[in-house]
Amino acid sequence: MIPATVHPMLVHFPIALLFTAFLLDLIAIWRRDRFFERAALVLLWLTLIAVALAIVAGLYAAGKVLVTPTVRPILEAHRRDGLITGGLIVVIVVFRMRTHRLWRRDTPATAQTTRLQDALKPWYSSLGAYVLGLIMISATGVVGGSMVYDHGLGVAVMPAPGAVESAKPNKSPTPSAANPSVAAGKSLYASTCARCHGPTPPFSSALVSSMGAAAMEQFIATRMPPGNPVGATSAKALVQYFNSIP
Ligand code: HEC
Repeated sequence: MIPATVHPMLVHFPIALLFTAFLLDLIAIWRRDRFFERAALVLLWLTLIAVALAIVAGLYAAGKVLVTPTVRPILEAHRRDGLITGGLIVVIVVFRMRTHRLWRRDTPATAQTTRLQDALKPWYSSLGAYVLGLIMISATGVVGGSMVYDHGLGVAVMPAPGAVESAKPNKSPTPSAANPSVAAGKSLYASTCARCHGPTPPFSSALVSSMGAAAMEQFIATRMPPGNPVGATSAKALVQYFNSIP
């Protein structure tokens, strides 16, 4: 089983490689130096490989973490941004290969003596693509990071010491003969969740089926209330209760 954390491990590579390739190309233009130009091109091809791997790992991770309805639109934007970034890197490589050929024809030995403006000419399309790519890859990273740091996507909550046990609500509150779990869930909701989510649960059977009962149970068991989760048994009862709400 590949863990969802492979994606955040890989994403640093295309980001670092793209910025470094750009920097080497700026040095190449400034010094009219073939060595830096070739080194940058190698890094760009590595960027392409790295971004492809990051995208594959990202698409895979999206199906493995529990996505709450609040985070889903952000995740979809992040997926779109990532794919656009991948496309832009293909464009950069294509333009950059063209620059490479033009530079070879212009022989940098003579370019050595030309004005910066002339030396820059074969670079216009590549530099334009670079700028778009660098902006897009940064924006993708910011949104991806925000999903984790601001929304806790795929992150286990660190329980407050000693809080988990003490706050675990009554194991068997007023069991009803018809469906003990639904009744238990209902009273658990009132005692543990209502203070944040309101007296009437905003969760219904529709949400249970959109999140998936098992995933929702796991989310509640490990994340709700934040910092002080109720555990598996209570989560099961709560989900059964929500599932009984039309
Ligand atoms: C201290 C306030 C607080 C308490 C208490 C609390 N929650 Fe939450 N709950 C939140 C916040 C904040 C979010 C949004 C987290 C997010 O979107 O990542 C959330 C999200 C959820 C979600 C995901 C649905 C959505 O719209 O994103 C469910 C389901 C949920 N809570 C159930 C519960 C249950 C069940 C309990 C009681 C055991 C509970 N919560 C107790 C604050 C609370």
